[in-house]
Amino acid sequence: MMKKTVIVYASKHHGNTFKLIKAISDKYEIAIIDAMKETHVDLQKYDIVGFASGIDFGKFYLEIENFARENLPLQKEVFFLYTCAMDREGFTDSIKEIALEKDAVILGAYGCRGYNTYGPWKLIGGMNKSHPTENEIQECVNFYEKLLI
Ligand SMILES: Cc1cc2nc3c(=O)[nH]c(=O)nc-3n(C[C@H](O)[C@H](O)[C@H](O)COP(=O)(O)O)c2cc1C
Repeated sequence: MMKKTVIVYASKHHGNTFKLIKAISDKYEIAIIDAMKETHVDLQKYDIVGFASGIDFGKFYLEIENFARENLPLQKEVFFLYTCAMDREGFTDSIKEIALEKDAVILGAYGCRGYNTYGPWKLIGGMNKSHPTENEIQECVNFYEKLLI
């Protein structure tokens, strides 16, 4: 039987991260939860839980971390998606730690650049204007596809 997936997301800067999720949900039947709107949800019926977020000072948005602490059931399969200004190591460290406290099985992570107008970048029209690109979005769908095998 096909595993049931839910992706919990927060995409509050420019909707960059949502583009990744949208592409996955266009192809696969998954549930989507906006952690900016819903804070208490029973995830027990899902086999795989994805957490997706923009990066804020080196980690997933607080709303996602709080959601995971509050709602992630024990021993789920978990993966992470993110968009960021400049990809660096460690963006998933903090959310991963929260998942591991719940005995999660970590399936992997996909991250790419996203349009950013934070701080001084705003003055020059932002950076990564075209990101996530069609290619990056496709890579993300491919990443999700491989998790299902
Ligand atoms: C307040 C703020 C802080 C940010 N901090 C970081 C950061 O530490 N590292 C990084 O690579 N990008 C950072 N960014 C850029 C965002 O992570 C990036 O634009 C992301 O694609 C936003 O995703 P969203 O549109 O889905 O919310 C920051 C953006 C904002 C608004």
